[in-house]
Amino acid sequence: MSVSIKSAREIELMRAAGKILAKVHENLGKELKAGMSTMDIDSLGDEIIRSYGCIPSFKNYNGYPASVCVSVNDEVVHGIPTKNRLIQEGDIVSLDIGVIYKGYHSDAARTHGIGEISKEAALLIERTRQCFFEGIKYAKEGNHLHQISNAISAYAESFGYGVVRDLVGHGIGTHLHEDPQIPNFTQRSRGVRLKAGMTLAIEPMINAGRFDVEWQDDDWTVVTQDHSLSAHYENTILVTSGEPEILSLTEAESSFL
Ligand code: MF3
Ligand code: CO
Repeated sequence: MSVSIKSAREIELMRAAGKILAKVHENLGKELKAGMSTMDIDSLGDEIIRSYGCIPSFKNYNGYPASVCVSVNDEVVHGIPTKNRLIQEGDIVSLDIGVIYKGYHSDAARTHGIGEISKEAALLIERTRQCFFEGIKYAKEGNHLHQISNAISAYAESFGYGVVRDLVGHGIGTHLHEDPQIPNFTQRSRGVRLKAGMTLAIEPMINAGRFDVEWQDDDWTVVTQDHSLSAHYENTILVTSGEPEILSLTEAESSFL
């Protein structure tokens, strides 16, 4: 397995892509309202991505038909937007978005509550986000990949949550998916040694119930087998010799650092 190390010039482009993606999430997240269709969300997202001079990287990726993955409640990831699926007060909606800027990819996901949501749902969203921050504490030159995976799963499992095993994070750069794969669950083998200049998409997918998932008949939408709620939080990060740089963090989230 070879993990690419980005040059100073590539890092600048990855920073620019991440900054735009953070803006896309900010702008689209603000527009979510009960009564919108998941297709309305995708159309708006597509428009915002292009307004920044970017290409939506998911559109037509392995046949995926939309620019934004919209996954509601027990849908974990890769929900396909449709005009008949209306989001409702109390729903939780995960938006996963990828952009390409001057040939460089950035990938990030957020889960939003629509109007007033249950305590259980709010905690799941918050703790899934914290899983990411627990994981990246170990994203530093010289550490091994499994330290990130183990920190994410230990935190999630401390609440009795299920850590999705069938999907993983990934390296990212001139391609959406590069080496290495980044599992969110405990790994016995330590995996690659991290080096400054690696860019990684770390993306815990956490279920309120069991970790088991299944694919719906559209061959994309992943749902929890027990129909428990699921949340997703993802950023593209840059590994350095010190603290990692979170390339797709929104301004509002800088307080989490
Ligand atoms: N964040 C997801 C991933 O990294 C999104 C991919 S959706 C797809 O795999 F449509 F592009 F497949
Ligand atoms: Co990803």
